[in-house]
Amino acid sequence: MSIQTVMVIGAGQMGGGIAQVMAQAGRKTYLNDVNMDIVKARIAFIEKLLTKDVTKGKITEEQKTAALANLIPSVDQKDAADCDLVVEAIVENMDVKAKVFSNLDQICKPSCILASNTSSLPITEIAAHTKRPDKVIGMHFMNPVPVMKLVELIRGLATSDETFEAVRAEGLALGKTPVEVRDVPGFISNRVLQVMINEAIYCLYEGVASPEDIDTVMKLGMNHPMGPLQLADFIGLDTVLAIMETLYDGYADCKYRPCPLLRQYVKAGWLGKKSGRGFYQYD
Ligand code: CAA
Ligand code: NAD
Repeated sequence: MSIQTVMVIGAGQMGGGIAQVMAQAGRKTYLNDVNMDIVKARIAFIEKLLTKDVTKGKITEEQKTAALANLIPSVDQKDAADCDLVVEAIVENMDVKAKVFSNLDQICKPSCILASNTSSLPITEIAAHTKRPDKVIGMHFMNPVPVMKLVELIRGLATSDETFEAVRAEGLALGKTPVEVRDVPGFISNRVLQVMINEAIYCLYEGVASPEDIDTVMKLGMNHPMGPLQLADFIGLDTVLAIMETLYDGYADCKYRPCPLLRQYVKAGWLGKKSGRGFYQYD
């Protein structure tokens, strides 16, 4: 099937990145959030990134103009009625995602594929909130989306081969490398990554070293581009905690218990870069 018109739901850091790469690939792209201020601010941020790419000679002024023209602000999910693909990128919470998928199932045409950018939640359970579980799939991009090459594709129990192949082709068209993963908590990326991040938070909690020194060990010792605490701030500590909860519940294994310090930071509203404070302070 051909994917021409898409909607990205959630104009946060992930939804913005996904919408950008889709618009640059020539898709008519609705970017949807709960209010227009959030959507407009995200489109302004995308414009800044594209302008920088023009300055660096990575894209032409015409390509920038075409990508921006493909981005359509939306605050009404009914705009998804003519879409071939919807990618949901809202908060990492099953109840909230379930409502969105159930609503989209009513709005979207029968052929439309409904994808979730969830970091860890079961695709099979998300799909069960629709009457088209064969057309529901995990399309898990990495942050920052325009830069990172991976997209994890997660098949729910009922995801059809046709849906999988259409989304795999779309991933390739966006310049990403798709990897097929079974529907297990945290998939591969976050089953491995978040355990490392959580362990780094335990090191801080136990007073083993300062945030800077913990991050320096992983950056200089293991050649990671960011240390685990800086990366946690970049992902968002609410998202990190939500993923650890999913791993802990899903495997019923204490090796996934979220560090109490992580819970405390989230309760304090210290969510990392997006709130101005996490393990580090941001302007
Ligand atoms: N959006 C778009 N582009 C961005 C960006 C953003 N938010 N942040 C940085 N970039 C671009 C920059 O514009 C720059 O592009 P150019 O080379 O064209 O100028 C490029 O990335 C490099 O940026 P910088 O030179 O400013 O900084 P850097 O060299 O330190 O790289 C980084 C920044 C790419 C983010 C790098 O630090 C990195 O790779 N960090 C690790 C990222 C990572 O691990 N991501 C996965 C997170 S886990 C996940 O996504 C899954 C989940 O479910 C939680
Ligand atoms: P974010 O907090 O930056 O953005 C979420 C956005 O969703 C907000 O703008 C919010 O207003 C909007 N939203 C909430 N409910 C909505 C609704 N009902 N309708 C429309 N918009 C709604 O979050 P994020 O970091 O972009 O994460 C979004 C999703 O992507 C989560 O499921 C997360 O687990 C996943 N993810 C995050 C990362 C990461 O590094 N942050 C990486 C991969 C996947």
